[in-house]
Amino acid sequence: MRAVLEQLEARRVEARLGGGQKRIDAQHAKGKLTARERLDVLLDEGSFEEYDMYVTHRATEFGMASQKIAGDGVVTGWGTINGRMVYVFSQDFTVLGGSLSETHARKICKIMDMAVKNGAPVIGLNDSGGARIQEGVDSLAGYADVFKRNVDASGVVPQISVIMGPCAGGAVYSPAMTDFIFMVRDTSYMFVTGPDVVKTVTNEIVTAEELGGAGTHTQKSSVADGAFENDVEALEAIRQLFDFLPLNNRDKPPVRPFHDDPARLDMRLDTLVPDSANKPYDMKELILAIADEGDFFEIQDAYVRNIITGFLRLEGQTVGVVGNQPMVLAGCLDIDSSRKAARFVRFCDAFNIPLLTLVDVPGFLPGTAQEYGGVIKHGAKLLFAYAQATVPMVTLITRKAYGGAYDVMASKHIGADVNYAWPTAEIAVMGAKGATEILYRSELADAGKITARTREYEARFANPFVAAERGFIDEVIMPHSSRKRIARAFAALRGKNLEPRWKKHDTMPL
Ligand code: HXC
Repeated sequence: MRAVLEQLEARRVEARLGGGQKRIDAQHAKGKLTARERLDVLLDEGSFEEYDMYVTHRATEFGMASQKIAGDGVVTGWGTINGRMVYVFSQDFTVLGGSLSETHARKICKIMDMAVKNGAPVIGLNDSGGARIQEGVDSLAGYADVFKRNVDASGVVPQISVIMGPCAGGAVYSPAMTDFIFMVRDTSYMFVTGPDVVKTVTNEIVTAEELGGAGTHTQKSSVADGAFENDVEALEAIRQLFDFLPLNNRDKPPVRPFHDDPARLDMRLDTLVPDSANKPYDMKELILAIADEGDFFEIQDAYVRNIITGFLRLEGQTVGVVGNQPMVLAGCLDIDSSRKAARFVRFCDAFNIPLLTLVDVPGFLPGTAQEYGGVIKHGAKLLFAYAQATVPMVTLITRKAYGGAYDVMASKHIGADVNYAWPTAEIAVMGAKGATEILYRSELADAGKITARTREYEARFANPFVAAERGFIDEVIMPHSSRKRIARAFAALRGKNLEPRWKKHDTMPL
């Protein structure tokens, strides 16, 4: 018996070495952890249960028969993060560059199937040269099997991807269908085709970093939701994010202990909005003032900063927050900010995460660039997402809520449950100056008259009371009481139960 046990241990030791010490050293030399070291950081200590450690590929061509390495380039199984279950796969770059073979794909599919059956999220740590070239169509078939599962699992269990090395070809499409993608700066890349192919086809000379590094995907393409300095920082951030999320679409997000009084007043908020309507202020100050202990996890912090998206905790409960940011482009809605917020709203709604919307929006950004780019269709995505959401929704208008953007930003009319405004709110079709110039075009030459008309318009409409008189705003609240009022609103909505009407699916403007 002892010999058998020793044999098992020897097989385990060998499997754990992956592609061998030399390649592990090379991985370390690049500042990267190995697939197993990454799981050690991600999961609670001692919680990892590995499956399929001895799986090897079945390819024989290109000398592959002699290159069978136990595990076949991916470590799979489940573990816990702060005691809550998660299925994981971690690609091992030391084994044939983490490339995806038929069996490698089968291992990933197995844990994805288990995750859906058992209602637990999937976290994929990606470090892969894409389809295993030696396997040809078998590896393409493997990718397609994973893609299909990504789609089937979407909206059922949260799926998170961390890009921790070069990811090319098929290796980027599976992450693209998950809920969140995070990257590691300087060591991770995502592209459909690498710089060499780009040069051949389009004559562009571009570095891997420029083409598909963390900067590119967090600031320009919006493919990635965040970037971190190194593997450890990225994995620790994923643990934080995981703590905000429910395990599946029938679960509620976890409630964590909190030590911040829900009735805490913040007198600084009474002076947050500047005297002049054209002066910006930082909406993040309001978010941090509302959240328990300023606990806020921002999603896409580097992309289109005119809108803020992220998770905060209120009385220990997860709340998704969407806020216009007056500091950037006056907080207007445009193509990219609408897409960014729409995706976030849909994630929250799919996973029972209540939504807080903080509004200071002068409208949609005008201009040919926006119109030619399809701002009508992209703006409609956000409207669609909010109007479709059935989770508890609380909205607070701090200052401007003009035009269509008033309707879009979780107005009462499209389904928000509780709508508050600060006394500084201005709810109108447009700003006073623009409105006056249209209404009194014939008087434009008379500056004095126009100024008087503008004042008149401001007095009539630049306030929250016209909307409040109609019940579109439930209450005009003191800024300093925002945390208390919002916490109480969400507490009152905890029993909200709105079943979406059955349909196969909608035809949202994609
Ligand atoms: C088989 C691969 C591989 C692959 C890398 N390796 N990619 N083996 N299939 N796709 C192997 C290398 O031969 C090498 O083996 C080891 O992994 C490490 O690779 P290096 O090139 O030495 O590492 P590095 O210099 O860091 O470069 C990493 C890389 C590069 C950028 C990923 O290897 C690369 O460009 N690979 C090919 C990428 C690619 O074109 N993939 C196919 C995409 S098409 P040894 O034995 O020397 O350690 C695709 C189609 C799917 O994915 C589409 C579905 C929609």
